[in-house]
Amino acid sequence: MEAHPAIRRPDGVKVTFRRMKFDFEDQGFERYWMDGSAFKSLFWTQLSAAFAPGEKFFMDSARALKDQIRDPQLAEEIVEFCRQEGHHTAQHLKFDRMNAEKGIDVEGCRRRFTVLLDRARGNLDPMEMLAATCALEHFTACFADQYLTQPELSAGADPKVRALWAWHAAEEAEHRATCYDLYEQLEGRYGQRVTTAIGAWAGILAASLYNTVVLLRQDNKLMTRDTLAGLWYLAGPRGLITRFLPPFARYFSPRFHPWRGADPAMIARWQAENRKYIQNAPESKVA
Ligand SMILES: [Fe+2]
Ligand SMILES: [Fe+2]
Repeated sequence: MEAHPAIRRPDGVKVTFRRMKFDFEDQGFERYWMDGSAFKSLFWTQLSAAFAPGEKFFMDSARALKDQIRDPQLAEEIVEFCRQEGHHTAQHLKFDRMNAEKGIDVEGCRRRFTVLLDRARGNLDPMEMLAATCALEHFTACFADQYLTQPELSAGADPKVRALWAWHAAEEAEHRATCYDLYEQLEGRYGQRVTTAIGAWAGILAASLYNTVVLLRQDNKLMTRDTLAGLWYLAGPRGLITRFLPPFARYFSPRFHPWRGADPAMIARWQAENRKYIQNAPESKVA
């Protein structure tokens, strides 16, 4: 059992399914849709291919154990969590298909993520699978926090594609604690949570970097100044992955909770600016 008192999500935050329709689907986008950069575009493009197998892993982890809790509010939240993740996958598959039509080997990227996750499924029991999901949900929440608060990370992105990622980021921020609260209610062990996280984060980062290299090589864009700039974008002093280090370190605290120190206002801000993409008018359910 974790050592800190239970922290519930902040007032005004409710995990809520939103049905989305984005302009990229009808209007298309360039192969190098982010800042004209092959590296940045293909890094995010390959990451999109992780969601179909990854979000299935998350949903399966939560569904396998949700009947063991007696908290009706959390049980209801897990249903909404699964609806959100299912819709993320559906929207990213549209994006993936359009990238595949441009000749980008999205299938190969997805296959590598799937092999990794299937291997994890084969080796982990249900609580370990949930621990891995908690770690990867923290990973996506870190992405979300960066994406929504640091505009320079998506500077130059096609706004049609940026809208897809901003929505995904907002909902990852919103459901950041769902699987963690399930893990806590099932009295998941601290040691298992943190040791599983190291493998989960290393695996997903290694697969992402490998996929990016493969896609760049296929486009004959690997040995370029753009790649050097891209590595700086990821791992420079203010890089995307560099910025993960403090929140990753916080995960090792026995007092960690996904909402501790997180800013819920970014979700409301995103929603206020992106209502035109939301098809099922969820405003009435969200403060
Ligand atoms: Fe997601
Ligand atoms: Fe998620």
